[in-house]
Amino acid sequence: GWLLGCAADLVIQLSSTLKSKPDVFSFGTVFTDHMLTIEWSATEGWQAPLIKPFGNLSLDPACSSLHYGIQLFEGMKAYRGDDNRLRLFRPMLNMNRMANSSKRACLPAFDQSELLECIRRLVEIDEEWVPHSNSASLYIRPTFISTEPSLGVKKPSSALLYVILSQAGSYFNNEAEALSLWADPKYTRAWKGGTGDCKMGGNYGCALFAQYEAVDYGCQQVLWLYGEDHQITEAGTMNIFLHWINEDGGDGRWGCIIFKVTERYLTMGQLCSALKQQQVKEMFGSGTACMICPIGHIIYQGENLHIPCQDKNSQLTSQIAKELTDIQYGRTPSDWTFLV
Ligand code: COI
Repeated sequence: GWLLGCAADLVIQLSSTLKSKPDVFSFGTVFTDHMLTIEWSATEGWQAPLIKPFGNLSLDPACSSLHYGIQLFEGMKAYRGDDNRLRLFRPMLNMNRMANSSKRACLPAFDQSELLECIRRLVEIDEEWVPHSNSASLYIRPTFISTEPSLGVKKPSSALLYVILSQAGSYFNNEAEALSLWADPKYTRAWKGGTGDCKMGGNYGCALFAQYEAVDYGCQQVLWLYGEDHQITEAGTMNIFLHWINEDGGDGRWGCIIFKVTERYLTMGQLCSALKQQQVKEMFGSGTACMICPIGHIIYQGENLHIPCQDKNSQLTSQIAKELTDIQYGRTPSDWTFLV
């Protein structure tokens, strides 16, 4: 049996009417003219991929993605370079993560390169929707849902993989401002043995209640903590980065000394003492939708922790943002880009 209807079998039904494109991009609200759908069933395997006009799905009300959250998604972007070419950024990593999420959700395996080729074709067809801008992009949302039409809690015997596209400007309303975070250990987003490393809708839906509590306390996002020692795990929907002089006194400078980059556990206690000893230089979050976002303060156990930030020129946050966008928009050649 083959995995995922091959891109060579792709069927294309072009829309007879094209929508007008909005002037401002409100994240994930307006979608392009076409979508990609690929159906799977245990008996027939993967069907031929189909690109068709964007439209509603028809689902059985019993389908187990709606009842038990048997579903997952990805997020990637297509960027229009100064040279007018369209680029994706390290898309195979999204395909790999999608395959991992799929395995964890008991959804079927698919061929990652074939799916990427189908996505490339979809973006190519709707290419006029990729903004002519060096700050906006086209957000790509691959989605994989169980369509099992029964209430039994079991491995799906049918599923639908689809991809929709939406223009994306800035994710947060006020991009210039540094984020404020609410850190309360009473909620947990991800835990050992859980699905925090998979991109499943449930991870985000479960976070909403705490998110609104953070807003009630005057913060923009939640700083997610884990365990008795309040390990820092995620900021809102972003990974979190800390630029500091570590316990061994280590630092680095852009361009001369290579940074020591470590993926490690960091507790609120360690962060608080580094702040007291003025060893914190800056903190930022990173994600596909928001890109790079500086963190300004954290409210934790009744204290308002001010996070310093460097002056604009030495700021690591803005240097990394520039380095990444230079690659994404094709200003710096890199094998991290994938031409559409
Ligand atoms: C990302 O863009 O990295 C996210 O996880 C946010 C998305 C769910 C809107």
